[in-house]
Amino acid sequence: MSEKPVESLSESEAEQELKRLAAEIAEHDRRYHTEDAPTISDAEYDALARRNLAIEERFPDLVRDDSPSRRVGAPPAEGFAKVRHAVPMLSLAKAYTDQDVADFIERGRRFFDRDKDLDIAFTAEPKIDGLSASLRYENGVFVQGATRGDGAVGEDITANLKTIADIPKKLQGSGWPEVIEIRGEVYMTYAEFEALKQRSAATGGQDYVNPRNTAAGSLRQKDPSVTASRNLKFFAYAWGYATADPAPTQYDSVQKFKEWGFKVSPLMVRAKSIDELIAQYHHIEELRSSLGYDIDGVVYKVDQLELQRRWGFVTGEPRWAVAHKFPAEQAMTTVEKIDIQVGRTGTLAPVARLAPVTVGGVVVENVTLHNEDYIKGFDSNGQPIRDGIDVRIGDTVVIQRAGDVIPQIVSVVIGKRPANAVPYEFPHTCPVCGSPATREINEKTGKEDSRRRCTGELICAAQAVERLRHFVSRGAMDIEGLGAENIDLFFNAGLVKTAADIFTLKDRRPAVTKALAERREEQARLREEASGKTRKNVRSIEERNYEGLDKLFAAIDARREPELDRFIFALGIRHIGETTAAVLARQFSTIEELIRVGKETAKAEDPHTVFPSINGIGDTVINALRDFFGNERNDDVLDALLAQVHPKPYVMEISAGSEVSGKTVVFTGSLEKMTRSEAKAMAERLGAKVAGSVSAKTDLVVAGPGAGSKLKVASDLGIEVIDEDTWLQRIGRAG
Ligand code: IVH
Repeated sequence: MSEKPVESLSESEAEQELKRLAAEIAEHDRRYHTEDAPTISDAEYDALARRNLAIEERFPDLVRDDSPSRRVGAPPAEGFAKVRHAVPMLSLAKAYTDQDVADFIERGRRFFDRDKDLDIAFTAEPKIDGLSASLRYENGVFVQGATRGDGAVGEDITANLKTIADIPKKLQGSGWPEVIEIRGEVYMTYAEFEALKQRSAATGGQDYVNPRNTAAGSLRQKDPSVTASRNLKFFAYAWGYATADPAPTQYDSVQKFKEWGFKVSPLMVRAKSIDELIAQYHHIEELRSSLGYDIDGVVYKVDQLELQRRWGFVTGEPRWAVAHKFPAEQAMTTVEKIDIQVGRTGTLAPVARLAPVTVGGVVVENVTLHNEDYIKGFDSNGQPIRDGIDVRIGDTVVIQRAGDVIPQIVSVVIGKRPANAVPYEFPHTCPVCGSPATREINEKTGKEDSRRRCTGELICAAQAVERLRHFVSRGAMDIEGLGAENIDLFFNAGLVKTAADIFTLKDRRPAVTKALAERREEQARLREEASGKTRKNVRSIEERNYEGLDKLFAAIDARREPELDRFIFALGIRHIGETTAAVLARQFSTIEELIRVGKETAKAEDPHTVFPSINGIGDTVINALRDFFGNERNDDVLDALLAQVHPKPYVMEISAGSEVSGKTVVFTGSLEKMTRSEAKAMAERLGAKVAGSVSAKTDLVVAGPGAGSKLKVASDLGIEVIDEDTWLQRIGRAG
């Protein structure tokens, strides 16, 4: 993006620009701190922050109350108790060049100008790329641990921090202050990160982006045993509130931490001159790739605590410390080919296969190209897109790993482009199943989605497991005993490829038994390994009797005539959730009719000439139906499924005759005999209107245990309140 130089901004432009930067930086802070999902590199973020500062320096009167320079980080996420730090957790000023470091030291010298023979010493240590945490010890006992949050208020993650082996529950040795908040960095090693990725891939779990974000996510777990399984580590490097200084200097204080049982960086040194500091910077930089965890610079701090106190703070940062950042590591290589991977939700993701190259000690062979527009460098309207680059097969590219394990392409070396290189043609069919791949138009913005998706919803192998899991899930077909775990098992064993196969499982009983038995064996073996004990009297697979199996087959059979709305929802058509499925069921009454209209609509040039106008159904849904029913490849799968399953035609039960027909009903509290969405669908089928809150228009309130304020409003308004059983009786569903 081209930006006007700060020197040539007018006052009103500067005002505008500061406003924009405040909002943009706040958003990036939130993504980074609250969501652990940054969307720009550290270098880009720093560039925004520097521009903000530069403008503020030129126009000091324009500094906003919500300026990024006045705050640190983002507010804490919901869900954990808040902890106000007794002493705020600060961030660090940054230096990018040797000159910046010299300026830092010079500022110090000038500040202490009057003390001519003052002997300022500094420490230098790695800047760990993790999450800072503050650990409060009272009389040597770990009592509370918190995240940084916005610097003033963090989150109480004591239980999770207690699972980290590097964090002592009780301080060792002696001489610790009565109360001290030890501060340091929680991080994840590359080895642990890779192991977690492997485990996750094996079980079809989520993908993890980088160690830092994964460490952040691990610290925010509700269940501390999950945190424990992540084997996080901790380095202590600072402290907050303390009833006494650990020692008179920074260096000796950190050595004390070590005596008290903490891990401290072995690369911390004390230095007297800028040359020594820079030498340590280069030394650490050389070791960077062999450390086994991410660091993104070297932190220099004034060593003498007395001088630290005298030099003091600016907003959010100590004056007496600076982080000397490493430049992003870059390398040049060539793009050998571009592959398209199909994700579990059908997104076509382009990946550049590179001639292998080492960047910062790691061999890089693949790099994501994000999406179609990114590769072209412009969007479908021909507008150049931000950060997009025209990448072609054969191109020489500069790649970078910036404080992060994910490599990215920084630029294409146009001078080295082969004469015959042509713009990359993004496929319009799915490489996995051959179905058309389309880009959706967002109904609200009218813009095309940047992602192209496979429309082979039922047949695409890349999406199959995800679809099957959805098909059997609670709001959908709700087949008891057939959860995600069994679906994965049957899918991997080749027993269930499409939804129809679920209903023929019974015919393949021996193979199902074998798959289940093998899983049991595997689980037993893992347990044995973990406990070190061996099992006695192991029964052979044939001897096992799977009583559960008959139950499972019975549960499957019980679902051969599902309600139409559940069935439509179970198909997993994009944008068709439970509510829309119910609307469609009501409108079309039978699956055959929906299919007929769906296919006609797909064929029509203008879908509106065929598809009826229905309240609550817009173009997004109509287009999704067109894609689904227009894709002939879905036909066979749907036919096979309908040979097994016969959705019940949708009938307005009793409706007009029903006691609740035409009434406005509110459900509150928890229901025990059905889910909230079932209750709602049932009431609507009977012609009732279901509202979310109680008002004078409400006719009836159905209250379950835990009903709160709505109940009170109802009684104030004199509205009839009944319990779930009475409700079921009234609609003729009791017993
Ligand atoms: S000292 C008063 N030392 O960097 C100074 N911070 O940009 C407080 N960090 O929030 C920080 N390694 O998460 C310090 N050796 C180190 C560090 C370090 C990583 C992080 C820390 C802090 C951030 C500031």
